[in-house]
Amino acid sequence: MQIFLDSANYEEIETWFRQGIVDGVTTNPSIMFKDGVYNLEEGARRLCALLKDCPVSVEVTSNDRAEMIQQARTFACWAPNIVVKIPIVNEFGESCLGVIHSLTCDGISINTTAILSFNQAILAAKAGAKYVSIFAGRIADEGNDPGTVIRNVRAWLDQWNLTSQIIVGSIRTVMDIQAAALAGAHILTIPPQFLPKMVDHKYTRDTVRQFNQDAEKALREITQRQPIAPGSGAEAAAVPLRSALQPTAKRP
Ligand code: E4P
Repeated sequence: MQIFLDSANYEEIETWFRQGIVDGVTTNPSIMFKDGVYNLEEGARRLCALLKDCPVSVEVTSNDRAEMIQQARTFACWAPNIVVKIPIVNEFGESCLGVIHSLTCDGISINTTAILSFNQAILAAKAGAKYVSIFAGRIADEGNDPGTVIRNVRAWLDQWNLTSQIIVGSIRTVMDIQAAALAGAHILTIPPQFLPKMVDHKYTRDTVRQFNQDAEKALREITQRQPIAPGSGAEAAAVPLRSALQPTAKRP
């Protein structure tokens, strides 16, 4: 399973990318606006350069299908790792499957977005979308179970050997992340504010604190029993241990 960041915040993306857990980035016009990226081309090019070979999804901003195709072709020239997000329908409910199919035939990677049902997902996959973005939070907003949709779409893709990958987005809680991962998402696109909650645990901190305290006690035992002579091998061993035990991270 891959992890994407659902963000346009360069600094935050860079921080997590350097920790080896980020396989791509997804954006949409609302995320770009929220993260202060008003110049789409400049922001997208910057993210693409940071992410190197990893995909960066950028969404078209028109209801007109001919214009979507034009925008997608322009976006695709910005960087080789651009993926173009096309909604499954425009805001009038008109099908965008033709747009998805034609761009896919041109060799442009398409992420079909705003998918809220099984039927939308299978049509997007049939049209050739590389990614189908299932919006878990918005499915739940409507009183439906995102886990069932994700599980069914995954089973259907596997049954027919289709290569489209499920991205689960619209994540609202850490529990949504766990549920989507277990339901069979190929990719989760996670808002970065959830990552500290995923990595941290109060009892892990307590555990590490206990280990550090016991290591400190062991060091005291050694030094009490046998004073360490300056310049000796024992002192060389103790120095890194002492410095490793100095608290560096702020403790809440
Ligand atoms: C991801 O690709 C989507 O654009 C995003 O997750 C939508 O999330 P929202 O429902 O919080 O707007």
